[in-house]
Amino acid sequence: MGSFSSSSGQKLAICMVELAVLMGVAYGGNFYQDFDLTWGGQRAKIFGGGQMLSLSLDKTSGSGFVSKKEYLFGRIDMQLKLVAGNSAGTVTAYYLSSQGPTHDEIDFEFLGNVSGDPYILHTNVFTQGKGNREQQFYLWFDPTRNFHTYSIIWKPQHITFLVDNTPIRVFNNAENRGVPFPKNQAMRIYSSLWNADDWATRGGLVKADWSKAPFTAYYRKFQVTPVSSSRSRSSGEFANGDWQSNALDANARRRLRWVQKNFMIYNYCTDLKRFPQGFPTECK
Ligand SMILES: *[C@@H]1O[C@H](CO)[C@@H](O)[C@H](O)[C@H]1NC(C)=O
Repeated sequence: MGSFSSSSGQKLAICMVELAVLMGVAYGGNFYQDFDLTWGGQRAKIFGGGQMLSLSLDKTSGSGFVSKKEYLFGRIDMQLKLVAGNSAGTVTAYYLSSQGPTHDEIDFEFLGNVSGDPYILHTNVFTQGKGNREQQFYLWFDPTRNFHTYSIIWKPQHITFLVDNTPIRVFNNAENRGVPFPKNQAMRIYSSLWNADDWATRGGLVKADWSKAPFTAYYRKFQVTPVSSSRSRSSGEFANGDWQSNALDANARRRLRWVQKNFMIYNYCTDLKRFPQGFPTECK
């Protein structure tokens, strides 16, 4: 009797997920169902009935996870609460990636800092195995105090990075000008917490303080929403507008400008020293 009801309950749950995907509505995940803990042994944990995940780093090892499924386009939301206190030298990478030498990749990397000094949010986009498209930001809040939502909207027309629904970066499809765009390779979602004090903190000047280990980052509210094929079906908030639409609305553009003006600390597209012969095509 017990096993009968639990298996039919499971079937019902699976049906509902399939239905949700078919209907193009958001599917809020369960970490047990959606992710594999890939390395770091007990340092990676799923708890709270599958609603929470944490990664830890100590002197011996970091840890990481990967999604069971691959995704091709969609909106991917995750809430993260980053390593608190003296997190200098730690890097929390959260990214989408396909595989192989010509892989595509969409990166968020959070570079820790000494207590009271700001994290750097590092972003990058790889197409056909080639990255070198870094943009870095400070955040307008302390990302270690509370959970905040970090999202990637990946559509055939553009990739948008969002923090708490505010767009911070848009990578447009410039294939018509010869710039490859990620659109043929499905990606998995990865995250890892690791020690990068050789480069992350001002070129290795500040070392990780192992007396504060283990360092821990927390994850919750993973959600994937497919890109809807028909505009009439679109739903979902995007900075008070509609993220399914192909252009940012006026409010989203205003927010993007606000972030880029006040919080952007590095942009490869304006780095003359690096590109003395001229900026990459997608920058123009
Ligand atoms: C840490 O804080 C310092 C001082 O505000 C800043 O210069 C630096 O960019 C911050 N981030 C990292 C990763 O060092």
